[in-house]
Amino acid sequence: MSKTSRENREFDVIIWGASGFTGRIATNYMHAQYGEGNISWAIAGRNQAKLDSVRNQRDIEVLIAESDDEESLRELVQKTKVLLTTVGPYTKYGSKLVAACAEYGTDYCDLTGESLWMREMISAYDESARNSGARIVHTCGFDSIPSDIGVYFLQKEMIARHGVPARHIKFRLRTAKGGMSGGTADSGLAMVEKVEKDKSLRSQLTDPYLLNDNFRGADGPDRISPFYDEDFESWVAPFVMGPINTRVVRRSAELLGDMYGSNFRYDEGILTRGGPTGFLGATGIGLATGLAMATLAAPPTRKIIKRFIPKPGEGPSEQEQEQGFFEIELKAKHPDDEALDLRAIVKGDRDPGYGSTAKMIVESAMALAHDDVKKSGGFWTPASVIGDKLLQRLPLHAGVTFELIG
Ligand SMILES: NC(=O)c1ccc[n+]([C@@H]2O[C@H](COP(=O)([O-])OP(=O)(O)OC[C@H]3O[C@@H](n4cnc5c(N)ncnc54)[C@H](OP(=O)(O)O)[C@@H]3O)[C@@H](O)[C@H]2O)c1
Repeated sequence: MSKTSRENREFDVIIWGASGFTGRIATNYMHAQYGEGNISWAIAGRNQAKLDSVRNQRDIEVLIAESDDEESLRELVQKTKVLLTTVGPYTKYGSKLVAACAEYGTDYCDLTGESLWMREMISAYDESARNSGARIVHTCGFDSIPSDIGVYFLQKEMIARHGVPARHIKFRLRTAKGGMSGGTADSGLAMVEKVEKDKSLRSQLTDPYLLNDNFRGADGPDRISPFYDEDFESWVAPFVMGPINTRVVRRSAELLGDMYGSNFRYDEGILTRGGPTGFLGATGIGLATGLAMATLAAPPTRKIIKRFIPKPGEGPSEQEQEQGFFEIELKAKHPDDEALDLRAIVKGDRDPGYGSTAKMIVESAMALAHDDVKKSGGFWTPASVIGDKLLQRLPLHAGVTFELIG
């Protein structure tokens, strides 16, 4: 099949997976924000009837493509400049799409948090993406945009004010309200089952530099027990998304060359508070996280849990999304003088996993399609390819803000 050049593509953006829980929210946001403008976009999936109900009489084109049907994927990716996908678990349904985008020079963004799968994709298709010019960008949702763009924001500020990058940035989740969808639960289970089938993957999961090609910095394994952090005068609990976000930020450190420096360190956690209540809170979160992991890892208890978690297509109600939010504090440590340390707050005005995530991935796709992104093909992170664009777009359109507080 001959390749259609990027300039001759029919659409700027196609949303594949529009009938799913997050895909519907992304479609509605795209329509509300860009539906009437000079953007050409379409929705896609495997089920015409479901997609028609998402279209809901609006003037949106519908396309059909199935994850196992390579021909349908090749046709799909050649119709658009950017393919936004919410079809997950990505481990199960995502690989052939990445291969097609990399081959045909189609920019790509997704919501995966499946770090083992990302490693697999980078190793398998980076060369192909470099050759075709496709910019492939994983983790364009709550994992890992607030982390990755928050760090990028602080490093830019540190360099602008003090002429050096921070040597260590700490991410501390202050508060968040939201729920979980069936697709997210399914993706977590898919990763657990993948490791169960191939135990050699365990060491990859704990590798702090899993997503790096050559860069190895000073970070060690993820902390799994609570600790007291003088910088925040608070106890800190492990954050369940940390093992994903930290890998993405460390890949950014490599892809951004010298910007973060060669000894850059990064870690994540949840703030409780100081004193005994803070210690008890952090211990409780640590124990609950460990217990949840152990329960998922053991097949008999996993079977029971599956009965109680949401099913694919289900997730928090519209009211829960609207009443949801998140607030993260980041501290950037100056390499020599703590009086020059900087702090920032990252906030979102919807629940992190769906309301905010849907807006973040649409803005990522729009940045790739419409903004002047001067990066060549390959596997990028949000910060390393569209960092500056997202720092403009997210506060302007998506209710996600980055603010220096000291
Ligand atoms: N990074 C983050 O912060 C974040 C946030 C939210 C979600 N996510 C991830 O996003 C993914 C989607 O989550 P969700 O809750 O929206 O899931 P969902 O409701 O189950 O939606 C999955 C979508 O994939 C489609 N699909 C399933 N199998 C397919 C196949 N073989 N071919 C083509 N399409 C297929 C489904 O189509 P049908 O409707 O026809 O079944 C549906 O449109 C998950 O991997 C989740 O972990 C990440």
